[in-house]
Amino acid sequence: MSQPYPFFLPRDRNWQPEAYTPGYKTSIARSPRQGLVSLHRGSPSERSGPTFEGLDMGQHDNDLLMNFRTEGEAAGLPIGERIVVHGQVIDQFGKPVPHTLVEMWQANAGGRYRHKKDSYLAPLDPNFGGVGRCMTDGEGRYRFRTVRPGPYPWPNGVNTWRPAHIHVSVMGPSISTRLITQLYFEGDPLIPQCPIVQVLKDVDAVDTMTARLDMAHSRPMDYLAYRFDIVVRGALQTYFEE
Ligand SMILES: [Fe+2]
Repeated sequence: MSQPYPFFLPRDRNWQPEAYTPGYKTSIARSPRQGLVSLHRGSPSERSGPTFEGLDMGQHDNDLLMNFRTEGEAAGLPIGERIVVHGQVIDQFGKPVPHTLVEMWQANAGGRYRHKKDSYLAPLDPNFGGVGRCMTDGEGRYRFRTVRPGPYPWPNGVNTWRPAHIHVSVMGPSISTRLITQLYFEGDPLIPQCPIVQVLKDVDAVDTMTARLDMAHSRPMDYLAYRFDIVVRGALQTYFEE
């Protein structure tokens, strides 16, 4: 268990999307039918969380160009545009969140997931798994090397497509700060067309989910970089007088 925090700021329900948004069809079945139960503010279940000190990270866990490479005839690097996605995990007060777990998963360059329920026409890539994880450093920074995922069609409406995106989970300092979100790429014309993006009421919220092209961190003749900072809920500290 991590150090208990006094309590976390409540979620802003006007900023987060509604759970029930019929334009995004799956939300109809997945949204709660009954009123939400409030967890007592500052209870141990809100304040505590896992620590990742003993977690053994593999050499290529945050390198999707390497972590699923096959041996033998098909051996090689994944097909697609080589990119680096990096940023900093901070809380609402701008304080870095060090040594926390960031996990990500994505489709391959053709828009196909390595999942038995994905039957999209685009082929699987024998050298690409599509999952990675990484621990933030002392300043809350994380980094993944991967290929840019392709957009894919999905059965929501007549002709709906997901913009290129990466699913991201970040734990933060406690269970209650865990955030699962999606990263989009700056300039993608599919972003405003997506029914999932459209459940966000505020365009600024979409902005916070959009990674920016970061030429300063790209590597010439190798990869482009995208910057994506992640903000988790902040903790109000209680100060004691000496
Ligand atoms: Fe997806």
